[in-house]
Amino acid sequence: MSLLRCESISKSFKDAESEVNILQDVSIDVFDGETLAILGSSGSGKSTLLHILATLDSPDRGEIFFEDVRLNSLNQKKQAAFRNKNLGFVYQFHHLLPEFTAQENVAMPLLIGDMDKRTALAKAKEGLHRVGLSHRLAHKPSQLSGGERQRVAIARALVNSPKIIMADEPTGNLDADNSEHIFELIQSINKELNTAFIIVTHDQSLAQKLDRTLFLKKGKLEALV
Ligand SMILES: Nc1ncnc2c1ncn2[C@@H]1O[C@H](COP(=O)(O)OP(=O)(O)OP(=O)(O)O)[C@@H](O)[C@H]1O
Ligand SMILES: [Mg+2]
Repeated sequence: MSLLRCESISKSFKDAESEVNILQDVSIDVFDGETLAILGSSGSGKSTLLHILATLDSPDRGEIFFEDVRLNSLNQKKQAAFRNKNLGFVYQFHHLLPEFTAQENVAMPLLIGDMDKRTALAKAKEGLHRVGLSHRLAHKPSQLSGGERQRVAIARALVNSPKIIMADEPTGNLDADNSEHIFELIQSINKELNTAFIIVTHDQSLAQKLDRTLFLKKGKLEALV
């Protein structure tokens, strides 16, 4: 059985004059522990697709299933609870909260999920250790390098032990060395914890490190050969 499945997702954006079809009948199956890259030119709809898969946006048509739960029929409150428990999301520009430390940022999904603060902070510390940032617990995002911030964002996505993490250009604003390190980190997490990943990237050489690559073009998703 697939872990995450979407069937015939379509999405268009309308303004006063026109309607633009961004996604047309897109279907994907992601299996337990699989790592998947999504490539596509700028504006092809990669972020839109990832947001829909993560229930951060809704499709015009089509369905999304996580295991046997039909996500798009849940109400918003249930979707938020579902995300908090089952999904990790990494944004291109980390989206860390500036006034909180790295440790507090990583603890945030647990605190939102009503875990007591002491346990949440202890788990956040473990998570930062996993991404190689034990020495940066008390640093705020502005005191971290770009690569370190993305590591914190990955630790935050991982803190609830989700079965899948989605990342929207997690290396988009990093240099080649840091990008390589982030991909190595993703691979080590995948190996050790069997976490599945869907990663949107522009970088074909990094995408090749993953199990499977799909290409989004003119609203359709194609396997890259
Ligand atoms: N809320 C919105 N309203 C109107 N149009 C939108 C909206 N969100 C996205 N779009 C349009 O949909 C298209 C796809 O956007 P999307 O952000 O998914 O592209 P992308 O593939 O992630 O691009 P990039 O590589 O630059 O991040 C773009 O043309 C964008 O302008
Ligand atoms: Mg995008």
